[in-house]
Amino acid sequence: MDKKITIAIDGFSSTGKSTLAKQLAKQLGYVYVDTGAMYRAIAFFSMQNNLIKTDFFDKEGLINHLSTIRLEFKFNPDLGFAEMYLNGENVEKQIRTIEVSNFVSKVAEIPEVRTKLVQQQQEMGKNKAVVMDGRDIGTVVFPDAELKIFMTASAQTRAQRRFDELIQKGDSVTFEEVLKNVEERDYIDTHRSNSPLVIAKDAIEIDNSNLNREEQFDLVLDLVNKKRSL
Ligand code: DC
Repeated sequence: MDKKITIAIDGFSSTGKSTLAKQLAKQLGYVYVDTGAMYRAIAFFSMQNNLIKTDFFDKEGLINHLSTIRLEFKFNPDLGFAEMYLNGENVEKQIRTIEVSNFVSKVAEIPEVRTKLVQQQQEMGKNKAVVMDGRDIGTVVFPDAELKIFMTASAQTRAQRRFDELIQKGDSVTFEEVLKNVEERDYIDTHRSNSPLVIAKDAIEIDNSNLNREEQFDLVLDLVNKKRSL
């Protein structure tokens, strides 16, 4: 029997990490964990509680509230993947807005936030058979993961994908706004002092600017099968 492994998928925002991770988890019968959704839920909580606004962020207030924040993933069989619940409420839609995207990097910089979420992520993946995507999975959460993928694509390509998605959902955004958000998040994610986005030494880098979904999936599935049969 193929052995169970841990698959860490890291990379820049809007590189299609979650699409790939979901597809892989489905194919392998593994659990999928979208760690970005957890940081997004904390950003949404901060917005709901007036802890964060443009030019204002009550970091201490958020740190004091952290122990009251309960995050859960619940599988939705109709969708075929798990949705994010914040203190018992389904917030899957609310956490995908451009407002949350604009605030989330600030929240993800806070060491106390990262400690809380990393612990929860390690717990969720302790039995392996998991595909987890984020920024620090192969470096911090599961440094011993059997397979580490690092995904990149040009900022323009990523912004275009994100823009198309938001427009399809009915959001009124401009391409320039989305590109600015992608570039700002890249900057903050790679420059923060606590767990910056870096490529793990043993990660396999995939630039998917010129790959379609199927090509990318086949490429990664091949890597997975090699690791599982070792
Ligand atoms: O993957 P995403 O775009 O939904 O992630 C949202 C934000 O959360 C992203 O700007 C960086 C942060 N993040 C992080 O710092 N560490 C993770 N493991 C996942 C996401």
